[in-house]
Amino acid sequence: MTDLFNDIQPIVCRGGKVFFLDQTALPVETRWVEIDSVEACWDAIKRLVVRGAPAIGVAAAFGMALASRVVQESGFEGYQARMKESAEFLASSRPTAVNLFWALARLEKKIADSQDRPVPEIKELVEEEVLAIQRENEEVCWAIGVQGQAILRDGISVLTHCNAGALATGKYGTALAPIYVAKERGLCVRVFADETRPLLQGSRLTAYELSRAGIDVTVITDGMAAVVMGKGWVNVCIVGCDRVAANGDMANKIGTYGVALLAKAHGIPFYAACPLSTIDLATPQGADIFIEERDPLEITEGIGGRATGVKAYNPAFDVTPNQLITGIITEAGIVYPPYAENLNSLRGKR
Ligand code: MRU
Repeated sequence: MTDLFNDIQPIVCRGGKVFFLDQTALPVETRWVEIDSVEACWDAIKRLVVRGAPAIGVAAAFGMALASRVVQESGFEGYQARMKESAEFLASSRPTAVNLFWALARLEKKIADSQDRPVPEIKELVEEEVLAIQRENEEVCWAIGVQGQAILRDGISVLTHCNAGALATGKYGTALAPIYVAKERGLCVRVFADETRPLLQGSRLTAYELSRAGIDVTVITDGMAAVVMGKGWVNVCIVGCDRVAANGDMANKIGTYGVALLAKAHGIPFYAACPLSTIDLATPQGADIFIEERDPLEITEGIGGRATGVKAYNPAFDVTPNQLITGIITEAGIVYPPYAENLNSLRGKR
């Protein structure tokens, strides 16, 4: 792994204190917020101070550590009950990204498996597990980068949507990780970043982190993707995902489905990139994924919002059907169709 992008990490723990890089303020201001309670963690996830599927999982894990520190009960049952309440509370912050639920379930299992130990010892195990979740996500993202770099070549042009970079993960990103690995290996990669209405994760965050890393990035509005593809300027699309269903349908930031349709129309390969923890075999198909709906004011009065006195519909994610996905890049390799069969065969590796 490289240290090249060490300065971009959305969540840090120093001397036991937890800090989130406030992504609502980027790129104008680099502001770190101390998160000192499970309530503050919930609020930060909800308001997108921390965002991106894997980063939300890591953030929720830190929320559990903060909850654990203040549990008063000295008996196992009482401790476990309080932690279950905190897990349910954190789970209510954002519904679509499965990584959040995955991290909470992992910590609840750790607690259940430790029931023979004294509570102070279990609290230490929880802290260790949280740091392991964060560290493993860094390693996994680098591995996704190494796997995904195989589809890139010198001079290639990639279109991405939203931000699935270092800011959205423990480090390095998912969709952007192959680009970072390619850069480290001396390849020249050009990126088109959709601005990603309504909250501009593309123009604010993807453009920020790619340009900091010295990667050639061009921001386009979401409506320009067709023209850019039509001009032959895009060789491949790579996006992140919030949840992959068992049949390979996947949810990602609103607008991703449109990008996939455009890619199909222009004969451009369309890849999704994610850790195995984003694959949810318990959800049969995309139609079963719960899509978060956010405040309409994000559209009417948010960044660039101009509409007054009208309704707005604001689903935060959409579902791209598996037929439009060329491959899913994971740390264990690139998964190709038939997805139902090939995703299921990864079961043991998750
Ligand atoms: O609403 P956000 O900013 O959390 O949405 C983020 C995305 O849709 C990302 O593409 C996805 O979480 C993958 S992050 C590696």
